[in-house]
Amino acid sequence: MTKVIWDLKKPLPKKSISKKIVVKPISEEQLTEVGRILVITWGGFIKSPDVTVTRVGPYLTAGLEQPFIAYLDNKPIGAVSPRLDNESKAGILDGGVHVLPEHRRKHVGTTLLLTALKWLKDHNMKTAEVTPFNPEGEEAVQRATAFYLANGGKRSRASEHTKPRASTGKTRKA
Ligand SMILES: CC(C)(COP(=O)(O)OP(=O)(O)OC[C@H]1O[C@@H](n2cnc3c(N)ncnc32)[C@H](O)[C@@H]1OP(=O)(O)O)[C@@H](O)C(=O)NCCC(=O)NCCS
Repeated sequence: MTKVIWDLKKPLPKKSISKKIVVKPISEEQLTEVGRILVITWGGFIKSPDVTVTRVGPYLTAGLEQPFIAYLDNKPIGAVSPRLDNESKAGILDGGVHVLPEHRRKHVGTTLLLTALKWLKDHNMKTAEVTPFNPEGEEAVQRATAFYLANGGKRSRASEHTKPRASTGKTRKA
């Protein structure tokens, strides 16, 4: 399994961001909106928005994870949920970056990713990491990997025993 890592001791990648969207940190009440996005973008891996509420809610309440949503004309079109690991100082992009299909390749994902990396850096994380994963299949995983590498991430071989840091513990064949 390939991990992608950013060194947060270095300056964040300088990438062009979307000026059309607004990215906001969200509270527990809006976690369902993140879940609704994941139901679409994760090819059925998450079948109900409640999965995200149950999974991310406790981390959010504990101040360890901060989901962000990208809004276009007040409509949620993408999300990312960075999580702190205060022991290892290795922050995690929990489940990775997600953008609704009709809004891709307009740098919405880049804008979300940079927001998440900045949040982790501002919270004293030394690195950020994600394990590219998408149950739709290898092509979707490669697309996600290409996106992270285009945004300054570096490949690293994860331990064979490391599971994807996804927003649920389940896997499903596409
Ligand atoms: C991966 C994902 C978040 C990218 O979001 P996006 O808004 O389309 O990405 P951006 O427009 O910011 O892309 C930035 C750069 O990443 C690279 N990139 C993005 N999508 C790519 C693709 N499909 N193939 C190759 N490179 C890609 C390009 O270099 C792109 O820059 P360019 O468009 O100027 O050439 C989006 O495809 C997605 O939601 N996928 C489904 C969910 C998923 O698998 N998420 C990852 C879970 S770990």
